[in-house]
Amino acid sequence: MAVIMEKIDLLNKAKEIRAKAYTPYSKFPVGAALLTTSGKVYSGCNIENAAYPVSLCAERVAIFKAISEGETDFSEMAVVADTGRPVPPCGSCRQVMSEFFDKKMLIHIGNLHDDQKTMTMEELLPFSFEPSDLPAEEV
Ligand code: THU
Repeated sequence: MAVIMEKIDLLNKAKEIRAKAYTPYSKFPVGAALLTTSGKVYSGCNIENAAYPVSLCAERVAIFKAISEGETDFSEMAVVADTGRPVPPCGSCRQVMSEFFDKKMLIHIGNLHDDQKTMTMEELLPFSFEPSDLPAEEV
């Protein structure tokens, strides 16, 4: 049976895993929590590296964990950081989200002051580059 998870629970999960972030360089921890349609939560935090560009954002850690475990159906995602406004996911994460999330999927973004905003995938990344934009494969 699918577990009913409230938006607030998912935001709290994101906030919880934020404490695990490895951010010695930016000192800007971010937490993300991804809910599957079957009710499982995959969480992620940002993980930085002395070779800065190798660092990975919290959202992509959560998504890649889920995909690598064979999950493909997602229902909601939450992202939290210590920002003045609900944290806007970076462009690279939006592109990765759009590969796996339906256009109508909800993404909840928040901060530590409990400001929240919910956006659809389509609102977060309109006019995205999609698999269907690639040339059709010749058989
Ligand atoms: N970061 C995320 O984890 N997610 C975002 O959507 C914004 C940025 C991370 C990357 C880097 O470790 C730190 O925040 C500062 O940019």
